[in-house]
Amino acid sequence: MTEQVGGTCAVVIVAAGSGQRLGYGMPKARVPLGGEPMLAHAVRGVVRAGVAAQICIAVPADDAEMADIARDLAAKSGAGPGIIWSVVDGGADRSASVRAALGALAAHITTVLIHDAARPLAPSGVFDRVTAALRDGAKAVIPALAVVDTIKTVVPAGLPATGAGVEKVSGTPARNRLRAVQTPQGFELDTLRRAHAHAETLDAAAAAAITDDAMLVEALGEDVYVVQGSTHSLKITSPTDLLLAEAMLQGPLRPRWVEG
Ligand code: C5P
Repeated sequence: MTEQVGGTCAVVIVAAGSGQRLGYGMPKARVPLGGEPMLAHAVRGVVRAGVAAQICIAVPADDAEMADIARDLAAKSGAGPGIIWSVVDGGADRSASVRAALGALAAHITTVLIHDAARPLAPSGVFDRVTAALRDGAKAVIPALAVVDTIKTVVPAGLPATGAGVEKVSGTPARNRLRAVQTPQGFELDTLRRAHAHAETLDAAAAAAITDDAMLVEALGEDVYVVQGSTHSLKITSPTDLLLAEAMLQGPLRPRWVEG
């Protein structure tokens, strides 16, 4: 088990999304993976990583069943090393859910990892790398992977002859400088609170464009450090992702997935 960050590190698991893109008609964190709700895997991964003095789970505000699942997982896992458990109502968007969880952290917490329930198979190695960078003085740390696709930026456009609405390429960033970013993302708590206080002042369009916590810290002008992510930390968004995650858990290729 990893050394705790002085017993003052909390992990927030955001599980309050609707999961519409997955098409199960239920919040994504409740969708079964290997016969259990996705959230159960995420919680187990966080407990196994051994970095959390407090674990706070944000669930959909109107979903009593999800709250029950979260409390049940806390009760079953909580017998361990004195972890404080909290379950809070999430908000309308991801950053509102993060803010709700930040409001529930104990007074002695000084660092926090924000983790998506939608990345239920994130391995301990990633938690280790993120917390190690926090211990080494980073105020913000993200796990990331190099991208394999060439990425283009686009703008709305009309085809020359017909004006039919399509998009056209406005740029091609150098691929070797691009990273696909994952969770858990780690922060000095004061820095993340400051970043979210600023986010609360944004209008709805700007708030909808916030896709991770690090970009809020970037907006403060703070350095955000990057550590190696993992292919196991895939984000489950579409049914194809779910198939891949099932295969990682119990498929014939499982023994080959040795990366941490
Ligand atoms: O929607 P998306 O897949 O980007 O969500 C990423 C994570 O944020 C998921 O774990 C989801 O449950 C969480 N989320 C949340 N509250 C929201 C929207 C998303 O906790 N309002």
